[in-house]
Amino acid sequence: MSFENIFGFPPAVTASAPGRVNLLGEHTDYNDGYVLPTAIPQKTTVSMRPNSGGEFVVHAADLASESRFEREAKPGDHFAAYVYGCIRGAMATGAEIPYLDIYVESDVPMGVGLSSSAALEVATLRALRELLKLDLDDVRIAQMAQRAEIDFAGVNCGIMDQMASSLADPKQMLFLDTRTLERRLVPRPPSTEVLVVDSGLSRSLATSAYNERRHECERASASLGVAALRDIGDVSRVESLDEPMRRRARHVVSENARVLRAVAGVDAREFGELMNASHASLRDDYEVSVPELDRLVELLQQQPDVYGARLTGAGFGGACVALCREGTAAGVGRDVVDQYGSKGRVLVPEATS
Ligand code: GLA
Repeated sequence: MSFENIFGFPPAVTASAPGRVNLLGEHTDYNDGYVLPTAIPQKTTVSMRPNSGGEFVVHAADLASESRFEREAKPGDHFAAYVYGCIRGAMATGAEIPYLDIYVESDVPMGVGLSSSAALEVATLRALRELLKLDLDDVRIAQMAQRAEIDFAGVNCGIMDQMASSLADPKQMLFLDTRTLERRLVPRPPSTEVLVVDSGLSRSLATSAYNERRHECERASASLGVAALRDIGDVSRVESLDEPMRRRARHVVSENARVLRAVAGVDAREFGELMNASHASLRDDYEVSVPELDRLVELLQQQPDVYGARLTGAGFGGACVALCREGTAAGVGRDVVDQYGSKGRVLVPEATS
């Protein structure tokens, strides 16, 4: 299927954006902290063309679904709500948005913590920017994408995923200060490769636990008298907090320090140790891991060609990421999935058939 098959004309514009995997800096973005994601090779592509039918028509190739909606009516379909949120964001800039035929294709794995929704939002906004010649830079696109997610998809997320989709590339890491949005692309440790394995466990608890963690972090920063946990540099300061705020804050403060250490220029071995420490902190202090993720991470960490591994994304299911010796990731992934069981899947590197 293609845009032309569905709508009878070629698209006027086509734009795409990648998913992301976060290497370090988990649950730090809504604490004004530091993150270190990289883009993955999989991407979402959005094509569009103005129509004269008096409604937006969104066709999602991979979901075989079609959604129709008008300017003032949010679609019930979850997938179309992301597109709608982007259209509303573009309207809020003062732009006149014509009704559009929209076609979405994606190979970003969904629901596993690789930001398929950010890829959809950023690709949609890029297509709108091109079609309507909107004066938006990539940071503004990320900010509008985040607003679409919060206001129209109902997820109170930070800005990491949208900034990664808008500004990262798969060959480097995006070091981002989520408070100032200062950023720079930094190389991975030499001779390394990224491996992403799905646990096969859906992230059912993720939204409620995510909001609860955010709230605990806000309580912790209020008790410590700072604007955000990012303002705490010395981890011993969290010791005065009540539980569970003490452990939540300890995770955030130590995780920020790990990101800063990683971008100070460490070798693969030390980077891997930071990833392992991040997982332990997410498991023990932040309590967003589950036994399946712990098992998968342990299997990854036992592999001689793996420098380090951790859960990635919000937690409670989804994927794990490992840093491997260059050229070994596909093989390590297959071995680990064999041991883990049939629910596991290698997502990056993509299978070649
Ligand atoms: C989700 C959110 C991000 C970030 C991560 C956890 O992916 O969308 O903003 O908070 O969880 O690091």
